[in-house]
Amino acid sequence: MNTQRIIAATDVAETLKGMLDGMEHDRLFVLTDEHTEQWCYPLVAPVVGEAHRISIAAGDDNKDIEALCHVWDELSGHGATRHSLLINLGGGMVTDLGGFAAATFKRGIRCINVPTTLLAMVDAAVGGKTGINRHALKNEVGAFYPAEAVVVSAQFLHTLDAHNIASGFAEMLKHGLISTEEHWSRLMRYDLNGLDLDALQELIMESICVKEHIVEQDPTEKHIRKALNLGHTLGHAFETWAMRHAMPILHGHAVAWGLIGELYLAHIHEGFPTDKLRQMVSYVKEVYEPIAFTCKDYDELHELMQHDKKNRGTEIRFTLLGGIGDIRIDCIATKEEIDEALDFVREC
Ligand code: GLY
Repeated sequence: MNTQRIIAATDVAETLKGMLDGMEHDRLFVLTDEHTEQWCYPLVAPVVGEAHRISIAAGDDNKDIEALCHVWDELSGHGATRHSLLINLGGGMVTDLGGFAAATFKRGIRCINVPTTLLAMVDAAVGGKTGINRHALKNEVGAFYPAEAVVVSAQFLHTLDAHNIASGFAEMLKHGLISTEEHWSRLMRYDLNGLDLDALQELIMESICVKEHIVEQDPTEKHIRKALNLGHTLGHAFETWAMRHAMPILHGHAVAWGLIGELYLAHIHEGFPTDKLRQMVSYVKEVYEPIAFTCKDYDELHELMQHDKKNRGTEIRFTLLGGIGDIRIDCIATKEEIDEALDFVREC
């Protein structure tokens, strides 16, 4: 699997122009959703003038086969060949779907990801996972297909609301926990209310390096890439539970509380230090709204964890930590331990 170039851009149009000049292509396409078409496309418009624009409806509900067919048809109808180039301009929904369209159209055309949300910058747009949802199943159909390049610019974050910034920051906290104490401490000191975008851009680039370093070792998630699932076994269960109960929460908010539950499990299982657990609890409590589940929801949460596609059989596997950067994959926890972790999350 080829690796992708990650490029930090202070001026996204200028950076993109340099890249397009250096990448031969016969036709250029830009994929947006209805939001990024309005808010983000104007930032790149001066340098992609000749491109054919494809727009899809926003929202993860629309990351489906119909939207994918629309992208394939637009590529086909406007003369795309194997030498064409697709720019995916948007959040994770656009980079996932656009990446999969690029992976499959004429058996693969090149694409560039230009993520416009913090979550997509530090997670979805890097590492090569692409795909669409099918029926109620998230990312049920997809491929590992890294973009040629990812252009990362905090310029887009000016128009992103505080909830979505916090959501992306949860994935950055995860990268801090699986890397070094130094990086994690810098993240914990970052003031999300002040939102200094230059300082954030630096942290974003560090965060991407953490992910890239792991993906390089295990691009198709056979072993160490599972480190990136920290906080997600509980987090995905919280996210689906909240959606089913008509109280949808953003992915990163579910992951933030998933991290707390899983660090508690790490503490009782692998000796993760109490002081670090306490620091994470006070950070998450301050930034992320609590999730309103009760002990009556434990069985449902349990069932959701069992159906997580990363699990096999009835065992529930977690990525845990012995300390910051001390990764332990495929840890099995009992129902009693998981219930204790859910108690801990509620008590927080
Ligand atoms: N989002 C986790 C991964 O890319 O593996």
